[in-house]
Amino acid sequence: MRKKIVAGNWKCNTTLQAGVELAKEVSNVVVEKGDKDVVVVLGTPFTHITKVVDTVDNARIGVASQNCAAEAKGAFTGEVSAEMVKSTGAEYVILGHSERREYYGETSEILNKKLALTLENGLTPIFCCGEALETREAEKQNEWVKAQLDETVFQLSADEFKKVVIAYEPIWAIGTGVTASSAQAQEMLAYIRSIIAEKFGQEIADATSILYGGSCNAKNANELFGQPDIDGGLIGGASLKAEDFIQIINAY
Ligand code: PGA
Repeated sequence: MRKKIVAGNWKCNTTLQAGVELAKEVSNVVVEKGDKDVVVVLGTPFTHITKVVDTVDNARIGVASQNCAAEAKGAFTGEVSAEMVKSTGAEYVILGHSERREYYGETSEILNKKLALTLENGLTPIFCCGEALETREAEKQNEWVKAQLDETVFQLSADEFKKVVIAYEPIWAIGTGVTASSAQAQEMLAYIRSIIAEKFGQEIADATSILYGGSCNAKNANELFGQPDIDGGLIGGASLKAEDFIQIINAY
């Protein structure tokens, strides 16, 4: 059975102290609840990773970076490599978020380098895809998402792809308060699963965790997570409040 995952994406928010507090609160409740069914991931800023790894119960909570360098190491001032992320004890790397694609010019070519380094270092990529509003309005979202995947994760071998988590995040739903309806999200995630099956076979498609992201919150998580192809969420704004994030985890 594929894993259910609730992953927080803190983006460029929280001081180190506030982040550690947030991680502590989430960890305490997750441990107390003792429910082993859902994998909880905290996507923190690079500066927080080591402390958050030390703070949370690692058996129950994974830590993610929100990016990594496209190069293994060397003279790349300001970059943080996948190997460095791995050395902190983090287990996941969020890659291809639309904010990184849009504001930092991340192309499929760059993402392929990051994907390769992430996998080489034994980290799990949480690979994001999703269309802009114009694309959705033109009803071209399936073609758009397929092209994003064709150029990146579908270039991997089947063995590599098995290690990838996909997050579908329509850009029009990110941080806008406009959530995709559960029917829209289900339809897209079923479509993504179908193209994974075409590419890598049904068994791998059935084992791939596909998350929904975009204004997922304590109120709508239950309905979204109730859909057959939605295996969890990538949560931005609502992951910054322990209470809300915990409610989302509890939606399972
Ligand atoms: P949001 O962000 O939940 O604040 O919409 C989701 C994301 O960008 O990962």
